[in-house]
Amino acid sequence: MIKKAIIPAAGYGTRSLPISKVIPKEMFPIGIKPAIQYVVEEAIESGIEQILMVVSRSKNLIVDYFDHSLELEAFLERKNKMHLMDAPNIPDIQIHYTRQPIAKGLGDAIRLGKSFVNDEPFAVLLPDDIILHKHSPSLKQLIDVFTKYKESVIGLQTVDEKYLNQYGVIKGKKHSNDTYRLTDIVEKPKINPPSQLAVIGRYVFTPMIFEQLDKIKRGIGGEYQLTDGMKALLQSENIYGKLIEGQRYDIGSMDDYMKLLNFVYSNMKNG
Ligand code: UTP
Repeated sequence: MIKKAIIPAAGYGTRSLPISKVIPKEMFPIGIKPAIQYVVEEAIESGIEQILMVVSRSKNLIVDYFDHSLELEAFLERKNKMHLMDAPNIPDIQIHYTRQPIAKGLGDAIRLGKSFVNDEPFAVLLPDDIILHKHSPSLKQLIDVFTKYKESVIGLQTVDEKYLNQYGVIKGKKHSNDTYRLTDIVEKPKINPPSQLAVIGRYVFTPMIFEQLDKIKRGIGGEYQLTDGMKALLQSENIYGKLIEGQRYDIGSMDDYMKLLNFVYSNMKNG
């Protein structure tokens, strides 16, 4: 039922400078696949059929990666080595692209997907959040909640109090074992966070979010914040939060990136 997803990848990646000046953090290698491929694969496993990637002038590497390389394919064919292209396969899914000329914030990036989404509920996956699951892909976990309530659902994680100032943090009423109904949401609270429930990079929205994103002003950090759009949406619709089962790694954090590399490498070694 949720068939379209937006993947915003137009940010400057300032925490990953200087390398992110030329290599988008979304393209950082994890083994032999770039980070963003994990997220595209998660989207496909969750039933997504069309993706809109929001890129920018310095993100052409992403567009090239998901395209055919005719030269390389001809070379491998000549050498009878086409099997090398299959490991790992470039995901087979329709990807549209749009450019965000200036990284004015996540709220602005998502807003650019309005005509792509065309009045349907849709998903958003942040490509710098890699979430490894045991049972069900994290986006699928949200889609399952959406299927029940037909209202927006966002991914949550319990975060240590000292790190809450780096996240959107919700206030909510417990709805079931692992779901909450939001009553408020605050971006990067400096003091008095409303809970320890932080928003992580997976969302399912009703198209009503666009009406709110059209109205928001620049918020924290001078950016158009998706959080402000969600806060406004709460005035007219319910938003549910779902604690995501899975291990999350933020590619923009050196610590997490290294942990993920180690994890993937040790899994490869152990077959
Ligand atoms: P982040 O805030 O984590 O990424 O945005 P960033 O701004 O690129 O990185 P830092 O914080 O400066 O290190 C989450 C995702 O949203 C995209 C980013 O590319 C990233 O994948 N994004 C962010 C946009 O597409 N446009 C924006 O204006 C901001």
